[in-house]
Amino acid sequence: MSIDSEILRALRGAGATGVGGAELAKQLGVSRAAIWAHIEELRSAGYEIEASPHHGYKLFSVPDRLHADDLLSRIAPVDVIGRDIKVFQETTSTNDIIDRLARDGAQEGVVVFAESQTQGRGRLGRNWISPSGKGVWFSVLLRPALRPQAFTQLTISAATSLARAIREQLDIQCEIKWPNDVLIRGKKVAGILSEVNAEPDVLKYAIVGAGINANLDAVDFPPELLSISTSLKIELGEWVDRANLAAATLRHLDRAYEWIRNHHFDSIVSEWETWCSTLGRIVTIDVGGRELSGRAESLDENGALLLRNEHGQLERIIGGDVTLQK
Ligand code: BTN
Repeated sequence: MSIDSEILRALRGAGATGVGGAELAKQLGVSRAAIWAHIEELRSAGYEIEASPHHGYKLFSVPDRLHADDLLSRIAPVDVIGRDIKVFQETTSTNDIIDRLARDGAQEGVVVFAESQTQGRGRLGRNWISPSGKGVWFSVLLRPALRPQAFTQLTISAATSLARAIREQLDIQCEIKWPNDVLIRGKKVAGILSEVNAEPDVLKYAIVGAGINANLDAVDFPPELLSISTSLKIELGEWVDRANLAAATLRHLDRAYEWIRNHHFDSIVSEWETWCSTLGRIVTIDVGGRELSGRAESLDENGALLLRNEHGQLERIIGGDVTLQK
């Protein structure tokens, strides 16, 4: 962790009591002057930190801006996901940045956030609107020892982690629509775009991109999306702390990835199933222009959906656009 992360972590831990400059300097193995310089830097980034001779430093408020050191200070320690975090003010798509990092040999677990994306991508070639400072838009680089056909495990784990973070942080009910949509009251609040670089039998790397509509207002959505999309702010009627939500999501993603690495994907499936609005329902799935209908029965060991068609046969679906019928 960087000095800024360590300072923020110590300030958060100290709460209203505050923490003295000398104590901080000792804890972090740097001089008091260095602590002061870092505190000044954090202040200029919008962190309100009080310094008093009696109580030392106290953290009063944090800016509504994603900050790599702050996110690191909230999640550490993690095993893989989030051990390196980068925040961009604007990118085309965070998936693009991760793809570039992957090709340059970056270690798995690096996470890229952007305050805004000019070419945010959704599944099936759709756009993903990403207005500045209003969402949690990020991508993760993974190099899992999975066969390419098992990559749906990553999407299922990501959807489960997002749903878990939203419920836990905001105390609001949400559900998952297979494979990757997180819905509140039937409207989409978050989605995942997983992309892989693979050879027939080898998954070289995977990019898991996630978008959570945190503080978007109705005017931020194109009118045609308003009946199917929403944001946490719209649903809760109040502003959402994006950094808290982002940190919780990374922590859950890291834990889910540990389960995958330890061959416990079945534990994630159980959680996914309890929150899934698709299972047991009659659905129509558009798979690359081909329409399939039937009852969504379960997930297989790779996260593919098993659909019982009208002839009683099970079809295995790895991707598509689901419409719930009844
Ligand atoms: C979907 O539900 O269609 C997937 C949406 C995925 C959006 C996220 S935002 C961060 C990452 N970068 C992108 O361009 N897309 C994903």
